Amino acid sequence: MKPKVLVTRKIYERPLQLLQEKAEVTMHLEPRAMTSEEIMAALPGKMGMLAMGSDRVSPSILEAGKDLKVVANNAVGFNNIDVEAGTRLKIAVTNTPDVLTDTTADLSFALILGVARRLMEADRFVRAGKWTGWKPDLMIGRDVHGKTLGIIGLGRIGSAVAKRGQGFNMRIVYTDIRRLHPAVEQQHQLQFMSLRDLLQIADFVTLHVPLTPETFHLVGAEQLQLMKKSAFLINASRGPVVDEKALVEALQGGTIAGAGLDVFEAEPKVSPELLTMDNVLIVPHVGSATDETREKMVQTAVNNILAVIRGEIPPNIVNPEIYQPSKS
Ligand code: DGY
Repeated sequence: MKPKVLVTRKIYERPLQLLQEKAEVTMHLEPRAMTSEEIMAALPGKMGMLAMGSDRVSPSILEAGKDLKVVANNAVGFNNIDVEAGTRLKIAVTNTPDVLTDTTADLSFALILGVARRLMEADRFVRAGKWTGWKPDLMIGRDVHGKTLGIIGLGRIGSAVAKRGQGFNMRIVYTDIRRLHPAVEQQHQLQFMSLRDLLQIADFVTLHVPLTPETFHLVGAEQLQLMKKSAFLINASRGPVVDEKALVEALQGGTIAGAGLDVFEAEPKVSPELLTMDNVLIVPHVGSATDETREKMVQTAVNNILAVIRGEIPPNIVNPEIYQPSKS
């Protein structure tokens, strides 16, 4: 009998076919997310779950999966999964790193360019029939090239954003819990500094940290206050890394010049004040949303499940400790 796998959303068919050869796949086909109750009801008997980054995989969901061996998240971030509970229950948790790095970096840079050059606002202006001709002061934005890009979190995506910034002749400063070797910094022209210093000098502050208890509200009123009045905040990481209420206040008070946001504290809800601001570019958590990348993400999640079916450690395990022999 084939092992059974639950896929919580209708996703790319091609990589799924590989999984279907080895497992009996149940896919939620409705154009909405499964509720927690639906997931819990569907899990008994399933050895695998291919979850979306938007599914909340709580301890009670994991406990309902009595036969669960793997939760393969279709996202690089895994803050939606209670990994600690997974580890306790000896369930492998996996993610989809690497395949979305460049795509998410592209989107982050698009937010930088879009908000600095007022692209969405200009687009709305033309469509509204307000364009009456060239004017010396029409839609004046800010240069991106030659400015200082402050990267908070120089992991895979942060590094890919740094490369893009260098292509625009920007000075790259970064902060992270780990500092690169000075020789590597020199080779790649990256300057390490404290968060405080970075916030004070960057023209664009872009966030690329995972959501953890340590990064929750990493940027709040105090940090926004340190930024230049002419600076922009870019967030394509996780919404709760920024205190959205404090951001609204900073934008209302002119503390910073604008923001480019892909993620929000209570998705899909967006603070209503942000929706009325022309200096805020808003997109609906689409960092990895390209045809090529979304297919690769499913492929990666499938590979992780297939590895568990074969009795191997999945390549993108985030809780490898479940494979350690228990000390007793
Ligand atoms: C990720 O993979 O973490 C992206 O944010 C998509 O959810």
